[in-house]
Amino acid sequence: MRLLGVRPNPAFYAAHHVMPGPGEAPAGLTGDAFHRFWSGALQDLLAPGELPPAGSLLERSLLGIADVVGRGAAIRRPIQTVASWAGQSILAQLEGEAAAALIATGRANHGKRNSPVGEAAVDTLAAPAVATWVGRQAGVVVDGPRCATYIGYAGEGPGLGVHLDKPGFGAVNLLVCLRRERAANPRHRPSTTFFFTPGVGLECFDLWPGDCLIFDGTRTPHGRSPLRSGDEMTLLSVGFAQG
Ligand SMILES: [Fe+2]
Repeated sequence: MRLLGVRPNPAFYAAHHVMPGPGEAPAGLTGDAFHRFWSGALQDLLAPGELPPAGSLLERSLLGIADVVGRGAAIRRPIQTVASWAGQSILAQLEGEAAAALIATGRANHGKRNSPVGEAAVDTLAAPAVATWVGRQAGVVVDGPRCATYIGYAGEGPGLGVHLDKPGFGAVNLLVCLRRERAANPRHRPSTTFFFTPGVGLECFDLWPGDCLIFDGTRTPHGRSPLRSGDEMTLLSVGFAQG
């Protein structure tokens, strides 16, 4: 579908469950403007706490956007792996630092809490071996780390709505799980990190301490599915630039 001479309006697509095609995005969108336009289009289609039914038109629309924004991604598909550079003692140190930081300096941000990292994370991530490992896992050359933040989810909530990361965070995102508590009721579905992966579909990852994901958050629509009572997790998110 192409609307010549009409300014693209994400609300229109949401109302009609029609995916905007590449020709309908304002020409030459880059950087923050690209992020704002496509995150807006995604969020107009899918509210925080929702996931599309499998095979639905809504899912196809979201995957259509993923296909468009994923062109030029540093990493085409999220990679789940284990943070082999972080042994038990490093993970425990980071988890301790994150717990204290989230209490002392954490601020509410879209259903979670974010806090700047401290010395333990800075020292760990400064080791060149970490960036080298990330680059090998992803099959790209990375530069950095550029940004890092602790993320805490605690108890019932909608999770994190689908979005793209701001380009300033870095095209290669390393997300490490430091702590995880499951919902009290075992029948509840676990809260997962989800992605709309072009050519693959909706992918959900259930991370436990030491597990990590490597993905291009600036070009892969992602979020967190809802949390139930007792669902808690602490994550370390690190952004690397593509070298
Ligand atoms: Fe993100």
